[in-house]
Parts: sequence; structure tokens; C-alpha cells
Amino acid sequence: MIGVLVSGEGTNLQALLDAGLPVVAVASNKRDAPALERASCAAAAFELADFPDRAARDAAMAGWLGEQGVRLVVLAGYMHLLTPAFLDCFPRAVVNVHPSLLPEFPGAHAVEEQLAAGIAESGATVHLVDEGIDSGPVLAQERVPVLPSDTPETLHARIKSVEHRLLPEVVRELCAR
Ligand code: GAR
Repeated sequence: MIGVLVSGEGTNLQALLDAGLPVVAVASNKRDAPALERASCAAAAFELADFPDRAARDAAMAGWLGEQGVRLVVLAGYMHLLTPAFLDCFPRAVVNVHPSLLPEFPGAHAVEEQLAAGIAESGATVHLVDEGIDSGPVLAQERVPVLPSDTPETLHARIKSVEHRLLPEVVRELCAR
């Protein structure tokens, strides 16, 4: 059973739902994340401001996901680092999707940084999550061309259309293990 962490729009969450994957819980670090509205399953917000520190927030979020029966966690546009308080509850069972060919261009501004760097090829990566910023072993990667006319919006849309296929594929495989 899958738990999904989100911070934003939630188009990758939607792709997981549309693929018929067993998403039983959705959590966010932001109460007003539009992604939360896509979930017809259990959904909850764990804002840092409501907890003494990051470890306490992460422990509460992991505990809640565990109560929903979650065994695999998918970060679908979740924009906070996870501490060991969370990761130790789901060993080798947290995956992330990122809009670049990792390890190139990690971080929250990958699309803008790739355009600024003038590279010809970007991509989408799905990887296992560790304590680093978009680090951890790569599970799947696909290349996406960068066009001379691209804006951050057009490039991100092209990458997302690949993410929406690649992420459910990898998650389905992990569920079958
Ligand atoms: C996706 O492009 C995902 O790769 C990226 O945030 C976007 C979320 O879109 N994640 C990161 O940059 C993680 N460092 P969504 O909310 O529409 O799924």
C-alpha cells in the first residue's frame, strides 16, 4: 500500500491515481497544497510550524502513514528534506521523482538552472531517497530534449509528461516485489 507526499500541484499524484495504484494516504508539509484535493483517500497536512522540530514532524508523519497501512512512500513533488526519523521507518522504501538527469541539477530549482546552463538534454529521474538533496540510487531515468525556445514552463511540462509515465511504471514494479 502506497503513501504519497506532496507539496504542490500534484500532477504526479494524479498519474499514480490514474494508473490504479493502491494509494491509501496522501500527506503534505503544506496545508494549502492543491495536491491534497486530488486525494479521495486519507489526506493530512504536517506543517513544520505545528511541531517542535523537523524530526518531530517527520516522526508524526511516518506514524500516521504507518497507521494507514503504508509500506511504500512516493515523493511526488514533496519539497522538504526527510530526516532519519522518517526514513528509518521505511527502509529502502521511499522513492522520489525529479526533473533532471540526476546527479546533475538536484534541488528545488532544477528546471530554471538547466535552462540557465544552456544544456541540450534534460530528463526525469526516479530514485530511492536518502538524507541528501535528490540523492540516493537511481531506479529509472529518461532523457528529454531542451529546445532553444523553451521557457521554464514549457520545459517543465515536457519533463512532467515523461514523469507521469515513468513514476507509475517504477512504483508498479516496486509494489510487485
Ligand atoms: C515534479 O516535476 C517533480 O519532479 C518535482 O516537482 C514537480 C512536482 O509536480 N520534484 C522536485 O523538484 C524534487 N526535488 P507535481 O506537484 O505536479 O507532481
